[in-house]
Amino acid sequence: MDPFRWLKVWPWSSAKGADEEDTFDPKMHLHYSPPKKKITMQELLLNQSTTASSIAGTTPFPLLSREGVRAYRRALFQQKVLDQCASSPFPGTLVLRDAAKRSNFIKSFWTHPETMRIVSEAVGVPLDVIMPTEIGHTNIQVEGTTVSEMTKKLKVEPTAEKVELTVEERAYDPLKDASAIIPWHYDSYPYVCVLMLSETEGMIGGETYIKKGDGTAQKVEGPQIGHAVMLQGGKVKHLAARARGVKERISTITSYRSSVPTVYDSSYLTNVRPYADLNSLYSEWTQYRLRKLRDELTHFLNKVEKEPGLALDGVALEKLIIEQIEYLQQTSRQMIAPKEHHRMLKAYGSAAYYDAPKIWATVQSLPEFEKIASSADKNRVWIPESVYWMDLQSSKEAIRLGKFLTSTMGNFTWDKKRGYYMGDELLRQGLNEVFLDWLGASGLWDIYCNLA
Ligand SMILES: [Fe+2]
Repeated sequence: MDPFRWLKVWPWSSAKGADEEDTFDPKMHLHYSPPKKKITMQELLLNQSTTASSIAGTTPFPLLSREGVRAYRRALFQQKVLDQCASSPFPGTLVLRDAAKRSNFIKSFWTHPETMRIVSEAVGVPLDVIMPTEIGHTNIQVEGTTVSEMTKKLKVEPTAEKVELTVEERAYDPLKDASAIIPWHYDSYPYVCVLMLSETEGMIGGETYIKKGDGTAQKVEGPQIGHAVMLQGGKVKHLAARARGVKERISTITSYRSSVPTVYDSSYLTNVRPYADLNSLYSEWTQYRLRKLRDELTHFLNKVEKEPGLALDGVALEKLIIEQIEYLQQTSRQMIAPKEHHRMLKAYGSAAYYDAPKIWATVQSLPEFEKIASSADKNRVWIPESVYWMDLQSSKEAIRLGKFLTSTMGNFTWDKKRGYYMGDELLRQGLNEVFLDWLGASGLWDIYCNLA
């Protein structure tokens, strides 16, 4: 007989050690009820694209039980996960990436058919996780300055400890106070699920604002502990108000695209290149992009096999070909060679990387801007053999024809009176580090630095 048999049946024998995680069990760990409200694109006065979901986002809904939150935190705070996944790309923020590769619980929770059904239902289209590296990207605000100081503060049990706020801090308006927000932006991926793993009582901020078609902002409350919120962040311009008043704030995020062929996928790697391991990111990216391409081609081929006349429909075939060429081109452009990426990021800094659109807006207001930018492009002062010159020409042609261009800033139409420059093209494609390199070569970067 097993002499330790009794150990296994004692209640405390089920208590988890520091580095032991739970097995995901939807009955125990999920506590789901559907969102009370789904906000439609129409309600927000936004254009409804035929290839996107009509749902812009949801109000927060319960997703994880108390035990589910603890199990998730236990999985996340295992020493091996912290050792291999933690970094601090911004002051005061700890980021955990790729935890799903070190934790079965996190992987099983996000990829379980029940979870996939819940997130898909919420936005009204069947979803696929973008790629494994985008499962459970976790942002942690906690006391401490270094990674090790911050990781030491993390406990499985969520803390309800509050931080005293000043009267001004309580009264702040995120729409007016630029320092209190993550500014207006579109996400790099079509859909996102944000799940809260911290107590939010006493928290000020933490909500999302969505820009409506008439220019006003609609507020969506931030999720409470165990609750999640879904957003079509690739099509909806939004800002996130920073949270204050709590000792810790832990949110975990998974990004999706539609799994249905012919539904758009406007993904970019702009937001993740600076802190991802590029070799593994590019490998996953390539696989997902080629799989999506294969699905699109198979879908069209199946239709042609059933209805051979469709092959003679020049418009449908041409549309497929143009879209897939663009898709492949974007796939390749997002994969900036690691050596080049690191060189450019080191030269200009990651703050400038994320500020690139703002920097561009500032330099445009300089009196000498037009002259410098147009002469830089005319004389090819920056990498004359680069593929981006071809991209610039084809975008100019599309603009001339009044066509829509896709961009990291939503649908892109050119209504400016001035010329369209390489800076515009590189930012449209979300190639912020390459943009800074062009800005440097043009001479505008030096002028910008002298302004400060
Ligand atoms: Fe976002």
